[in-house]
Amino acid sequence: MSRLSTYASVGTLGASLLLASCVKQSSPCSEPAATPVPAPPVAAATATPSALAAAPQPAASTTLRAAAAPTGRKVGVALATWFFETPGYQEIAAAQFDSLTPENEMKWYEVEPQPGVFNFKGGDKLVAFAEQHGMRMRGHTLVWHNQLAPWVKTLKGDALRKAMLNHATKTVEHWKGRIQHWDVVNEAVDENGKLRANSPFTQLGPSYIDEAFRAAHAADPNALLFYNDYDIEDPDWPKTEGAYQLVKGLKERGVPIHGMGFQMHVDPRKWPSPEKMKKVLERFAALDLLIELTEIDVPVGEIPGDDKQKLEKQAEWMRGITRICLEVPKCSGLTLWGLSDKQSWLSTKEWEHHRGKGPHRALPFDENHQPKPMFHAFLEALSQGAPGAKP
Ligand code: XIL
Repeated sequence: MSRLSTYASVGTLGASLLLASCVKQSSPCSEPAATPVPAPPVAAATATPSALAAAPQPAASTTLRAAAAPTGRKVGVALATWFFETPGYQEIAAAQFDSLTPENEMKWYEVEPQPGVFNFKGGDKLVAFAEQHGMRMRGHTLVWHNQLAPWVKTLKGDALRKAMLNHATKTVEHWKGRIQHWDVVNEAVDENGKLRANSPFTQLGPSYIDEAFRAAHAADPNALLFYNDYDIEDPDWPKTEGAYQLVKGLKERGVPIHGMGFQMHVDPRKWPSPEKMKKVLERFAALDLLIELTEIDVPVGEIPGDDKQKLEKQAEWMRGITRICLEVPKCSGLTLWGLSDKQSWLSTKEWEHHRGKGPHRALPFDENHQPKPMFHAFLEALSQGAPGAKP
């Protein structure tokens, strides 16, 4: 991070001070004050008075969300209520991010564990948190083959279609007006770009996707609806073409789809060049779709180098994707898949192997909630702004 500008380094100092004071407390940091929406200026809540006084530049760069605001982009984080008691977790999330995705608590297994029996508790808590802190909500996800309630897998034909439409309708209606984006359908295609054989919904034929979007739109006509997938970040991957044809077809048939979610769970062993990624984003954007990078993480367990080199490389990739998003006018936000290396799914025994040998340390804050080079690169890239963005 030798190339940090004064602008960014002063800003990160303020952020570091806040984080340090939070994690050093033996008891949890105090609850964030209840604030009306929109939240008060984040910089004021995150930089110490002395850091602010010393800052020769506007305090806008002290946090990710303040740095992103002039660019018109949202910076998001995936959260789970079971981490809410972890000291610093809520405070850092609210201070740094202005978009929230539930990591698990709006998935089918959680929301409708039994037919027609809905549980919105976890999701409600996350929506309330977002409202309290002036954060946009990204709902995730309505129709997906994973983390599905077991009963859904036993259904066939019309019974399955009805269950899917009912689930989408009831879930979107519950949070009508409070969730701005929905990932309506998640990961429908396989690595060859065909509808995946291991999804129970595939038996309904491709029109199930149209129907899911139409149901979500009817339930909340103001919500922006997304198709979301992984391994579609390189133009040469067959899956990218499959996803492109899928959403192109939806647009051509007048299905209410408004955006494309690129998960960005990219394996660093095959990380595409910035040029390639930009080409993909622009191709989808040309379909008149918003672009969101929805589930970013950069696991470094398997990349060469010592610790320092790995974290520098990770920072470079984060900087690269941030710049790409800023250069593509339809790219409206970037979301990190978890707050810190302590909570990342790739730090768990269950998922670590997914990216080879850990530790993957995939996120911008370390196990102690301290900012890493990845955080500074993200902040710096945001601070540099988007071409043509209002200052
Ligand atoms: C992951 C969660 O992070 C884990 O906690 C959970 O055990 C499995 O799912 N693509 C998605 C996300 O769309 O919902 C997944 O989240 C990661 C891959």
